[in-house]
Amino acid sequence: MSEKNTYYITTPIYYPSDNLHIGHAYCTVAADAEARFRRLEGYDVMFLTGTDEHGQKIERKAIEAGKTPKQYVDDIVVGIKELWKILNISNDRFIRTTDDYHVAAVQKIFKKLYDKGDIYKHVYEGWYCTPCESFWTEHQLVDGKCPDCGREVELTKEESYFFRLSNYQKKLEELYEKNPHFISPQTRLNEMLANFIRPGLDDLCVSRTSFKWGIPVTFDEGHIVYVWVDALSNYITALGWGSDDDSLYKKYWPANVHLVGKEIVRFHTIIWPAMLMALDEPVPEMVFGHGWLLLAGGKMSKSKGHVVDPVVLCERYGTDAIRYFLLREVPFGSDGVFSNEALIGRINSDLANDLGNLVSRTLTMSQKYFDGKVTPGTAGEFDGDLKALADEVVGKYTELMEQMLFSNAFAEVFRLVSRANKYIDETMPWKLAKEEDQKDRLRQVLYNLCEVLRIVALLCQPAMPETSEKILGYLGADEKGRSWESVKHFGSTAAFATGKGEILFPRIDLEKELEALEKDKEKRAAEAAKAAKKAEKAAAKEEKKSSHAAAEPADEITIADFAKLNLRVAKITACEPVPKADKLLKLTLDLGGETRTIASSIRPWYSAEELVGRHIVIVANLKPAVFRGVESHGMLLACENSADDVKLIFADDCQPGSPVN
Ligand code: ME8
Ligand code: MG
Repeated sequence: MSEKNTYYITTPIYYPSDNLHIGHAYCTVAADAEARFRRLEGYDVMFLTGTDEHGQKIERKAIEAGKTPKQYVDDIVVGIKELWKILNISNDRFIRTTDDYHVAAVQKIFKKLYDKGDIYKHVYEGWYCTPCESFWTEHQLVDGKCPDCGREVELTKEESYFFRLSNYQKKLEELYEKNPHFISPQTRLNEMLANFIRPGLDDLCVSRTSFKWGIPVTFDEGHIVYVWVDALSNYITALGWGSDDDSLYKKYWPANVHLVGKEIVRFHTIIWPAMLMALDEPVPEMVFGHGWLLLAGGKMSKSKGHVVDPVVLCERYGTDAIRYFLLREVPFGSDGVFSNEALIGRINSDLANDLGNLVSRTLTMSQKYFDGKVTPGTAGEFDGDLKALADEVVGKYTELMEQMLFSNAFAEVFRLVSRANKYIDETMPWKLAKEEDQKDRLRQVLYNLCEVLRIVALLCQPAMPETSEKILGYLGADEKGRSWESVKHFGSTAAFATGKGEILFPRIDLEKELEALEKDKEKRAAEAAKAAKKAEKAAAKEEKKSSHAAAEPADEITIADFAKLNLRVAKITACEPVPKADKLLKLTLDLGGETRTIASSIRPWYSAEELVGRHIVIVANLKPAVFRGVESHGMLLACENSADDVKLIFADDCQPGSPVN
């Protein structure tokens, strides 16, 4: 334990999504294991998680769902909190960026940076990736797409506030130099240096005006704070920074570690420390960038049908088994592939076989030979070896856990489990039991086994809190026997009073289970298809209603009403059918330099090929909506000769981008 006895650990705050998958759970489970480990060691721990609720992405999703953004996030946050409960996450606080105290503190941060001259007003002209909520310059784009996620970017031109990030280049370089673990693991540091620091930092656009769902800038109406500035601030606002009571901030800041996925390391190791330096606040000790949990088909995503639902997994195999698997299977820091085979294999080999056997053999024999009252007896062969390994494992485990090398740490624990199983085979207690003069030797053998189990249970606690508690209960461990100090003292227990255990992890028949999982998947897919069909029907009904309404002669409008429409000429540069939607075509449009996507139900009348190269007229300022997973930003003008004869209004002589008045 270092001189500081507090330990502050955070997860990223999650974008509200009803699609949190096992990949999201990965980071939170890891943070939870570390938090539990530090508590066990005796630290005063603050473990923070929460939700990142503002931004253009959320605003659009809310519109799509027909809700206000606040309603939308409120509904989803309930599910996220529930998920963390199911996964037995022991966070001390849960912050929502829509919480009043956070909003007030972010406004204070923004104002302070502005007053200091670290934020200034300017015009932003560049590209924006909404899914990543990231700004990019032309030369950073890859094939015209977001360099991070490969998706479409939008041309953005707004009067904005800028943060003088470029002023912090040198100070950041010094920070990395002086604290080589600030960006961990080492590979992440190298990525940051090569991709962002060496090419040079540009000032960062930190406000938006083109949408509303964000924290207002107090001194300039219409501007809202860039969602990443809002989000990163959570790590200090959660502790009361800038409020009347900042005692938690004084106690816990700077954070010992921010755990984050690799794709958001740059926000945490460049923008965040620069913001803190500008605020004259200390920077965190470490940002640890873990890898991604992938599926054989690539990264998890619902749109690709690649999701693994952590709730389903916990129901099927138990929360502890899932937590253990996540921590043990993949070295923290590297990418790993999730598969049902790997999960079931791991449960069977480590939990059902190795640990399960050790528990049941030890308890059964303690009961049978000593009625559960197990005390030290006569030392003998193999004892020294077992104790030496226990001591070694405790030492290594501690070092590894302190470096968040979870997989290696639990590999150590299971090395001790295997050694103890071997110890049973070596000492053959059933043989000792048959010899009257070996009773004391037998007692020591069982005592050693109980002692190993006690230590194993304590070391497993960060990964499997429920299982750990059960084992300690079976052993009748008292407060002293549950203390961290006692893991370092093999043989310190005076007496065990063991009970009968239940089977902790039943063995799973791999083939049968895979079959059952497949059936379950089909059932879920069928349910999802049914729900989608229902939604489609409802949407069609809605569309009919609105096209009918459009056919009605409208009330007279003023020229000002008409001026609200932004009608523009667009060139169709690409066109393709939308899968599983027999009416929809997805059109990629050029509006004179700006690229747009529109989905339109004109497939009954036009083929994709015949449209490419044609110029049409669109309503360019229609609110974006998503049809069948395609984001549609605008509407085509078409003439309805009759319900089954629709013609587009072509404008082949007109320049793309030109206004139509
Ligand atoms: O990025 N494997 O939120 P988010 C491993 N709101 N980790 C994964 C993963 C996978 N397949 N998928 C997602 C945000 N994650 C911001 C953070 S912090 C001030 C703001 C991880 O909901 C991802 O790497 O998109 C990230 O660390 C976390 O889930 C939240 O992602
Ligand atoms: Mg993300």
